[in-house]
Amino acid sequence: MNTQRLAVITGGSSGIGLELARRFGRHGYDLVIGGQDSPKLEGAAALLRRETGREVWTAPADLAQSDGVERFYERVREIGRPVDAFCANAGVGVGGGDFSQTDLDAELRLIDLDVRSQVHLTKLIVRDMVARGSGRILFTSSISALMPGPFEAVYSASKMFIRSFAEALRNEMAPKGIVVTALLPGPTDTDFFHRAGMDGTPVGDGAKDDPAEVARQGFEALMADRHHVIAESLKTKIQAAATNLMSDPMLAQVHRRMSEPKAARRQASSRQASSGSLVFMGTSLALVALLTTAAIVKPGRRMAGDARDGHYRS
Ligand SMILES: NC(=O)c1ccc[n+]([C@@H]2O[C@H](COP(=O)([O-])OP(=O)(O)OC[C@H]3O[C@@H](n4cnc5c(N)ncnc54)[C@H](OP(=O)(O)O)[C@@H]3O)[C@@H](O)[C@H]2O)c1
Repeated sequence: MNTQRLAVITGGSSGIGLELARRFGRHGYDLVIGGQDSPKLEGAAALLRRETGREVWTAPADLAQSDGVERFYERVREIGRPVDAFCANAGVGVGGGDFSQTDLDAELRLIDLDVRSQVHLTKLIVRDMVARGSGRILFTSSISALMPGPFEAVYSASKMFIRSFAEALRNEMAPKGIVVTALLPGPTDTDFFHRAGMDGTPVGDGAKDDPAEVARQGFEALMADRHHVIAESLKTKIQAAATNLMSDPMLAQVHRRMSEPKAARRQASSRQASSGSLVFMGTSLALVALLTTAAIVKPGRRMAGDARDGHYRS
């Protein structure tokens, strides 16, 4: 019997998913990676075999379709090994305009992939984990889950769904021996913004976090049994902390300044966008100072992010 551990990673052919696969591989896991584009997926698998020396299987499938999810799961079953870790990571965004301008088909497909497929595939995999009494699941949500997201409204709502879903499953599954963690990356340097049609937005063109570091923090949070982790830079963590102290309308306005296409705002609006970012950072720093003070004054209170809840854990 093979005693090596197995990690299954959707969207493992690029970006954060590829870095998660690297991380699991380096920690001794054999890998199953998913993606739609077969040549790209095979290229990623060859890279991972070379770099990690682990066994790597590919599971090409369009997870935005139910039969693609079933095919993906069948491929995992064919390997004949229990899944020790599952990263529900594949996802896309849609932006580049307001909701009256963006493409409905693309947004419905986003919901199919970012929401529907996560529920469908997790249902199949978690039942096997429960039968074995062990397993770990990492959901890639987003810092977008912490605020309304004008100019990517459907995407942000989908990531709120995933964050809530992950926290609820964590609570349900803990007594059954399953660890569930939500990974909330900030803007990260992958193909994501280009694919989402968000080139030419302040966030699409701005500085981004390192996907390898995002994956490291996600992996470590999962292994440490944390309920979520905000990844990865200090700037991202400060922005996440600040969301606790702003109203939804304020947060929506902050998001708008990051995600609205610059062309639509013309010269003056573009100045407003960069000042908006500075205002957000300034507000964030002030609020974090406040939070820190409150934590000092009230020992035992924790700052937002990276918290360990400890429910059901000894
Ligand atoms: N980058 C960011 O700033 C950021 C921030 C927060 C959260 N996230 C989340 O991180 C996750 C990974 O995104 P990323 O940034 O790493 O982007 P990425 O580099 O574009 O990777 C996306 C991955 O998902 C796969 N994928 C896309 N559509 C698929 C479909 N219909 N069926 C199966 N696989 C599909 C892609 O494979 P193909 O190329 O073959 O389609 C690719 O492997 C997403 O859930 C995203 O929402 C990203």
